[in-house]
Amino acid sequence: MNVSDLAEAFEKNFHAASQIFSAPGRVNLIGEHTDYNDGFVLPSAIGFYTHAAVSPRSDRKLALRSTEFADVFEFDLNHLPVRRLDSWCDYMVGVAWALEQAGCRCSGANLLVHGEVPIGAGLSSSAAIEVATALALLSLSQEKIPLREVPRLCQKAENEFVGARVGIMDQFVSCLGKEGHALLLDCRSLDFELVPIPAEVKLVVCNTMVKHELSGGEYNQRREQCEQGVRMLSAFYPGIKALRDISLDQLTAHAAALPLVIYNRCRHVVEENQRVKEAARSFCAGDLSAVGMLMRDSHRSLRDLYEVSCRELDVMVAAAEGLPGFYGGRMTGGGFGGCTVNLVAASHTETFRREVALRYERETSISPEIYVCSPANGAGAGFGSEGRYAASDTPGEITRSKSN
Ligand code: GLA
Repeated sequence: MNVSDLAEAFEKNFHAASQIFSAPGRVNLIGEHTDYNDGFVLPSAIGFYTHAAVSPRSDRKLALRSTEFADVFEFDLNHLPVRRLDSWCDYMVGVAWALEQAGCRCSGANLLVHGEVPIGAGLSSSAAIEVATALALLSLSQEKIPLREVPRLCQKAENEFVGARVGIMDQFVSCLGKEGHALLLDCRSLDFELVPIPAEVKLVVCNTMVKHELSGGEYNQRREQCEQGVRMLSAFYPGIKALRDISLDQLTAHAAALPLVIYNRCRHVVEENQRVKEAARSFCAGDLSAVGMLMRDSHRSLRDLYEVSCRELDVMVAAAEGLPGFYGGRMTGGGFGGCTVNLVAASHTETFRREVALRYERETSISPEIYVCSPANGAGAGFGSEGRYAASDTPGEITRSKSN
């Protein structure tokens, strides 16, 4: 679907002209399950966008439609539900709810969304729909909220309305990602640096086609285990607020005081924070092999210490080893399915794609989807590559193809 298809579909549904806002999904290069521990992450936005077409209404109603689902929803902004309805519209209603909670009065709006980010693949389709909705609603509101504050609002919608206790990474990079760069984010202060990703490598994202579901219990349970670790460690280190405040030496000094599973979760987070900073330094130094080794270490740690991998992710990670042009790879996102991310020389992506797909399918009998991505631009008005971005500033090239 292109910009005029969406505008036309909107007009058919709502008999009005629309304005379009778009927000991308993301892939996280390294720094997994560190964001809600006040730690560091290194994600890039990728060229899959969710688009929200919007027009104002004279009443305080919110009418929601999607190009993918048939159902139509209408809410009264004066009486919004306070928790999720278990529908695709939850992320959108949640954002309206979070805006109102923050004292930002929404105007009535008609919205039609069209999502390109694969759902349940761990590429942040939820952050993309939240951010696109937030920008669309804010465009009609009298309040002006800077883009930097939108991630927190969207996170609140997901935490409190949808009930998934996610961190800030996805919403942040969906808002502020930049073409050709990863974003080194300090999830405590929200300070960030743009880390250039050399054009000679692609981010090859391999979808296991096993769906993950964040509002499911495992993610929230990992988060609770980290909080338990902090509570137990604060007996030795009063004043610590998050695992971010602990060094590896401090952790190992009190390993015996923690149940093994809690120690393992803490160790993953503490070491992963170190890996993120090292990976950013290695990217800046142009040492892609070093980044690749850190990605492999990260995967092992997520598999063995944090226990959020699954057989299909491990098979997909192993399938990349030994292929020409491959620097390193790992599972990406929350885990329990979804995608791996691989750093691959641009000149080798075609063979890589073919071989990984063959190997994965041979082992699992599942046909994967493989996306060759470059870091793309964050959210804004317009239709992703066709709208907001000037020709010189287009989101990264993205080819999406089935393996067979
Ligand atoms: C999901 C969450 C993020 C982050 C990752 C794991 O993507 O939305 O906030 O916690 O899992 O790194």
